[in-house]
Amino acid sequence: SSFAVLNGPNLNLLGQREPQTYGSTTLAAIEASCAEVASELGCELSWFQSNHEGALVDEIQRLAADGTDGVVINAAAYTHTSVAIRDALATLDAPFVEVHISNVHAREGFRAHSYLSDLASGVIVGCGVQGYELAVRRLVALTSTP
Ligand code: DQA
Repeated sequence: SSFAVLNGPNLNLLGQREPQTYGSTTLAAIEASCAEVASELGCELSWFQSNHEGALVDEIQRLAADGTDGVVINAAAYTHTSVAIRDALATLDAPFVEVHISNVHAREGFRAHSYLSDLASGVIVGCGVQGYELAVRRLVALTSTP
């Protein structure tokens, strides 16, 4: 199977950005640990980060056209604002898992609402950067035939 991990705005700064909230692990290090999990489980993972809403929409459309088997998405702040990313995800035939590093329910009220969650197969919140790996494992479980 072939899965994609998508990251939204400011997640390129993981490791330096608000470390008390997001920890000290960089996005490159998360990518490396997810790559290990993927090779352990025998699946392929693509990786994409953008600070631009339209670029994320373009990438989701590309994945839908290529017939991805599943998507892990941390849309970051766009989670709370983007009907466009929601609509793009709605076109996917494959499942997606929404990830947030921090516990968005323990923060400002505006972070509690997601435009994505009701369409998601699952949501992983507040598990730190381990959430990405958990999401990859979940996609493998969801998409492997019994
Ligand atoms: C985040 C939570 C969002 O509210 C925030 O805008 C982010 C990161 C998280 O991973 O905890 O940029 O998605």
